[in-house]
Amino acid sequence: MNVVLGVGGGIAAYKAAELSRLLQDRGITVQVVMTSAAQKFITPLTFAALTNRKVITDLFTDRGEEETLSSAVEHIRVAQDHQLLVIAPATADLIAKMAHGHADDFLSTLYLAFTGPVVIAPAMNTNMWNHPAVVQNMRVLRERGHRIVEPGEGLLACGTTGPGRLAEPMAIAHEVSTVLFGVKDLEGEVVLITAGPTEEPIDPVRYITNRSSGKMGYAVADAAVRRGARVILISGPTSIPIPAGVEFIRVGTAREMRDAVFSKLGAANIVIKAAAVADYHVSNASDQKIKKTAARLTLELDPNPDILAEVGAQKGDRILIGFAAETHNMVAEAKRKMQTKNCDMVVGNFVNTPGTGFASDENAVTLVLRTGEIVEIEKASKQDVAGKILDQIQKLRLVAPAKS
Ligand code: PMT
Repeated sequence: MNVVLGVGGGIAAYKAAELSRLLQDRGITVQVVMTSAAQKFITPLTFAALTNRKVITDLFTDRGEEETLSSAVEHIRVAQDHQLLVIAPATADLIAKMAHGHADDFLSTLYLAFTGPVVIAPAMNTNMWNHPAVVQNMRVLRERGHRIVEPGEGLLACGTTGPGRLAEPMAIAHEVSTVLFGVKDLEGEVVLITAGPTEEPIDPVRYITNRSSGKMGYAVADAAVRRGARVILISGPTSIPIPAGVEFIRVGTAREMRDAVFSKLGAANIVIKAAAVADYHVSNASDQKIKKTAARLTLELDPNPDILAEVGAQKGDRILIGFAAETHNMVAEAKRKMQTKNCDMVVGNFVNTPGTGFASDENAVTLVLRTGEIVEIEKASKQDVAGKILDQIQKLRLVAPAKS
């Protein structure tokens, strides 16, 4: 595997030297490209010695006898010969150039010519990181599907404290190898996932349901299979493709979903309840079509079992993840549900923002963790959001064991 390491001009540029070594330790060939500002902080010679390759420093520097035409198209050749572009540290200037498509040096030109995955590790002063221009540019890059290795918090070189410090080289190397090779960190785990709506019959032709399409839960199931888990997907009625490799159980009502969950619960050590379960069912559903009359029709509803709460009551050592679809007070509601239903994490989902939540291809969620941490996942494809939910589950498992 060949990777381009783009080094921007920041005090953290020296950490890119360690990153180049960590990538090579993983069997990756590293081609370093430095901006002119980066060369003020660390010399190309350091990277040349570490990677045993000539470092690219400029669009038109002399490259010996081959010269002009070959050097003029070298960014195209480099783009074609490499499977991933990682930029660390990504300065505010580099981020702006990428967001807006400027191409005035080798790295920014290569970025435009590159069609593979891009991993970006920003580093800058806290005020710069929080500036609306940078926030907006980062949003553009996230929406473009680039993987961002978020900066850490701490004392920065400029003397201020806050977010902006380059992520640890190990975390960046991990992200690069995850994108290149995929991770199988759920091998040996059994993940039970519920997804989609339920349908509560009124009579043989009518029912009560909700707007869930199943896309979010199916994306989590697909991501978990890819990461090596055995996945049991229990789904209400949907019309989207069933992810390859899952054990699939189709249900209709909330009570059927409850029975299916408890028939498989014994096997599962991670339970993720993404389904939008109807809270009520019609008390006396008719077995014949109810005829239309001029009179008012009143439906009586009884509460459905709260499957998540029932699982929470006997969760044992399992990791239990609930979702909370809310139109207001999302974080407070997610916290309440986490406590009352004994969850390890609740995925808070605003469902009145256009383009996210029910039925859309993208989502933006807030993870409320039992550790007290709150993690925002910005708007991205449901596949990306699913990956980040699984990352948090893995962190929860590693950082603090589940309580019984
Ligand atoms: O399916 P999509 O179109 O992709 O949309 C995704 C989604 C918005 C449905 C999903 O991201 C989401 O938020 N799912 C949870 C919806 C929901 O029912 O939220 P709730 O706040 O009503 O329920 C809280 C939790 O309790 C959920 O984990 C739910 O599965 C569970 N529950 C609720 C009621 C019940 N009777 N039994 C349950 O287990």
